[in-house]
Amino acid sequence: MARDRCVAEGAVTDGSRIDGHSRQAAMHELAQTTDNWARPGDEKMQAEWDPRRHDIPPVLKVHELSKAFGAVRILNDVTFRMAEGEVISLIGASGSGKSTLLRCINFLETPTSGRIEVMGDAISITNRPGKSEITNRAKIRLFRQRTGMVFQSFNLWPHRTVIGNVTEALVYVLGKGWREAEDMALSALSKVGMAEFRDRYPSQLSGGQQQRVAIARVLAMRPKIMLFDEPTSALDPELVGEVLKVIRTLAEEGATILLVTHEMRFARDVSNRMIFLRKGMLEQDDAPEELFRNPASEAVKRFLSSVMSAAA
Ligand SMILES: Nc1ncnc2c1ncn2[C@@H]1O[C@H](COP(=O)(O)OP(=O)(O)OP(=O)(O)O)[C@@H](O)[C@H]1O
Ligand SMILES: [Mg+2]
Repeated sequence: MARDRCVAEGAVTDGSRIDGHSRQAAMHELAQTTDNWARPGDEKMQAEWDPRRHDIPPVLKVHELSKAFGAVRILNDVTFRMAEGEVISLIGASGSGKSTLLRCINFLETPTSGRIEVMGDAISITNRPGKSEITNRAKIRLFRQRTGMVFQSFNLWPHRTVIGNVTEALVYVLGKGWREAEDMALSALSKVGMAEFRDRYPSQLSGGQQQRVAIARVLAMRPKIMLFDEPTSALDPELVGEVLKVIRTLAEEGATILLVTHEMRFARDVSNRMIFLRKGMLEQDDAPEELFRNPASEAVKRFLSSVMSAAA
């Protein structure tokens, strides 16, 4: 198997879990079994059958997650889950809590209460003294490794070359030897089309190229979920496409992606589901076609028409 492919797959699979092929087989088998269960008119059974939610262990479960800054509640009991290989776009007006939600999942922010589970390991946050696991640093580190975050402002180290930027965390965080780290870094860089720029410094790259290096830096760490917070917002319009293309390729290859974006057409196209946040609450969680066809509220409707007309 080509090394590039290993990196992409390494980000989303490990031996203990279901790969794309056997998942398809499992879904097929389940569909057949479920056909036998469901009786005509048994709408409840039909409605509950969703293999993504019930039969494939979710990679991420967010349960009643809340976050307050002082007295101001920013996230309010947000609950959703992601299956392996799913792409979910988080949408909503400015200030609705999208970035805060990503940052809580990555523990860049400490949630106020709730529970986050990544691949079966959970961290519960409670206000009761001695009950919260948020003080367990090793666990937080593990969660950070499993959830790689790409920011709007690429955050590359200016005094490191492209290869240095990607290699460093592999050595210092994952404890890889330099040679192995460099191999892994080059694979990730080829994946985003940046291997030939390995010896350049960030200041010698365009914004789109810098963002692709930032994506390679996360990819090389082989996270289970990639979190993107408006990865193209800081870019000149002509550079947006190259970054979206990289994200699309990762999605097509089966990466699990939670993406905040204002690129609504892209989101609609690439996502399995779209989650609309309003004032820190999850207002709709649906497949894109359903969300666009049947917005759950006036707020969703207004938001979609404003972003779609702005993009037209
Ligand atoms: N560190 C902080 N301290 C206090 N308030 C904060 C902090 N970070 C975010 N907020 C507030 O939380 C709310 C949600 O912010 P957040 O950045 O999550 O929104 P967003 O949906 O990502 O918005 P945008 O689309 O503009 O990026 C905002 O009202 C913001 O001012
Ligand atoms: Mg934001």
